[in-house]
Amino acid sequence: MLSLYIHVPFCDKKCGYCSFFVIPKEWVDPQQKMIEWYVEGVVRDIEHWGKLYDKPALKTLYFGGGTPGILGKKILMKIIDHVAEYFDLSYLEELSIELNPNPHDEMLDIIQTITQTYKEFPRVRFSLGIQSFDDRILSLSSRQYSFEGIQGFLRSLREIKDSRNVFNLDFIAFGSGERTREDEYLFWDRARRERFQSIAASGFADSFSLYTLELFGGAQREKTKRKEIDWQSHLDLSHVPFETDQEKITVEFQRLKEHILDAWYRRYELSNFAYPGKESIHNMVYRTMQSYIGIGPSASSFLTGEYAQQLPEAKGSYGIRFTESTSIFWYMKESSREKDSTIILSEKDYLIESFFLALRTARWVKNLQAFAPVFVSNRKALLEQFADQWLLHFDDDTLKLTDEWLDLYNGIASELLEFS
Ligand SMILES: C[S@@+](CC[C@H](N)C(=O)[O-])C[C@H]1O[C@@H](n2cnc3c(N)ncnc32)[C@H](O)[C@@H]1O
Ligand code: SF4
Repeated sequence: MLSLYIHVPFCDKKCGYCSFFVIPKEWVDPQQKMIEWYVEGVVRDIEHWGKLYDKPALKTLYFGGGTPGILGKKILMKIIDHVAEYFDLSYLEELSIELNPNPHDEMLDIIQTITQTYKEFPRVRFSLGIQSFDDRILSLSSRQYSFEGIQGFLRSLREIKDSRNVFNLDFIAFGSGERTREDEYLFWDRARRERFQSIAASGFADSFSLYTLELFGGAQREKTKRKEIDWQSHLDLSHVPFETDQEKITVEFQRLKEHILDAWYRRYELSNFAYPGKESIHNMVYRTMQSYIGIGPSASSFLTGEYAQQLPEAKGSYGIRFTESTSIFWYMKESSREKDSTIILSEKDYLIESFFLALRTARWVKNLQAFAPVFVSNRKALLEQFADQWLLHFDDDTLKLTDEWLDLYNGIASELLEFS
């Protein structure tokens, strides 16, 4: 089955740490026209893909950004209804929408209205970017709320939760706290750390996304060695508006992670933790190499199997990846793929990507022999070395990672694979 990702590039303001492709609202207003053109482009592409595959069934529908909430409930629902016209939503397993918590009342209204309007969808997931409880970081990053404000928002969210909606909370380990004289690293104050702990322990959130502050761009690409694997990176981040330190980021991530794991959430992916059965289905579509179409400026698509075979340029291949133009003007003019963004996957490419993704997601690879064509020749010696360091267990057919490996997975997975 197919999945559909709709990229909404607009944000209220550009946050100081963010390297996603976004257009701050102040650039859009007063020419609200840009949003109208954007919606026309999205509607056009929904029709294009829906007709090409003859009203295909969708597994998941995901609005990501940017800040999809900025479109408001009417436009979001107009787009969902348009999708329903051109795609078969009878088997839809999940509708997901990323929201910034601000303005609170408007976001709560979107959550309530969408949950109540689409009663036929078994799961409506809202992913909320909380980011930090540190007022200094929030303010320097141009986030429009404080720790106090976010408490009120989370309380209201709790009140409107029902059995069909799933709430995910995003946090980032910024690594900008202080070291004490005893060289202990302290991020946030005690009350805030305890608040985080109690939110996790209350079980009110179905899942957490916990990120380490990442400066996307060249460095990230070098780490994965292959540009095409790193399809999430967009722009170079020239600076963040506060001091940050990699060692502190790692400690902060580990501490927040411990609170989450202590509250019985299960880590199902590098940055994602959920109660069993509450994992993001759309995320797993990406990680298990299932087909998805990306609509909107800078959105990426991956098509494999029957969907790839219907595209003349991908016939006979293992799959195709491509990205829409990052220029909203080009995107509005015609659906235009980013120049040189198309990658046709050979069997070897497919195996390398599957290996990376299997490690990132499930922490284990079954049928290890199938990856023999893409392993470096000294694979056995490397695996033994990693096993000696308690990073993994392996036998002839299975490789299983420990939690430590998951944090290091990019670098070590690269060592095992032969790229050239
Ligand atoms: C595309 S944003 C969408 C959420 C929404 N726009 C918001 O900020 O509330 C998805 C998530 O990416 C994470 N993120 C953004 N920039 C990041 C960075 N430089 N390093 C790590 N995570 C980042 C944030 O946690 C954010 O919530
Ligand atoms: S973190 Fe979210 S709100 Fe901030 S610029 Fe990035 S996408 Fe926009």
